[in-house]
Amino acid sequence: MAKILMITATSDNNRALAEKFADSAREMGHEADIIDLVELDMPMFSVARSKELETVPGMAELKAAMSDADSWMIIAPEYNGSMPPTLNNAVAWLSTEWQDFRALFNRRKVGLATHSGGGGPHVIMAMRQMFSFLGCIVLGRNCISNKTKEANPETIEDMLNQLAN
Ligand SMILES: Cc1cc2nc3c(=O)[nH]c(=O)nc-3n(C[C@H](O)[C@H](O)[C@H](O)COP(=O)(O)O)c2cc1C
Repeated sequence: MAKILMITATSDNNRALAEKFADSAREMGHEADIIDLVELDMPMFSVARSKELETVPGMAELKAAMSDADSWMIIAPEYNGSMPPTLNNAVAWLSTEWQDFRALFNRRKVGLATHSGGGGPHVIMAMRQMFSFLGCIVLGRNCISNKTKEANPETIEDMLNQLAN
């Protein structure tokens, strides 16, 4: 049994997709949690703000959930051919915690999924580049969905199997 964390960057269709992944993971006998980056409402990262703030709202909760899980599904819509600001912002905050930075990302298995306006290939590429750069092992397979194309259950199951093994 694995512990898989679904990290959703937005709270509508991508949140629903995160719930789909979590439900499937539980049906497969795994532990699954969801963390919604919109709900965390982290302040916008800047170096100045990172020096000012003693505690960053949302940070402790995010770090605890991420470090507690064996692997992560990152679920985010395409915004302007890239990733939404909630995701980029959360990773900027996490990456300034240098002492834990390698332990958190290095060798972590990560799956990528999107519900976007179109096909979402650009957000998948953007996330793949960022999480690979951070040292994660990003699954080759990803899950793409939109208004006219539901997430493929077989893809969800296969990705979860890969994240669990
Ligand atoms: C600021 C913004 C930029 C967007 N840019 C793109 C884009 O480049 N490509 C695309 O396929 N969809 C784009 N969309 C559509 C979103 O991917 C789509 O609405 C998605 O369902 C939003 O996720 P949500 O339903 O979880 O809120 C954009 C939406 C917004 C708000």
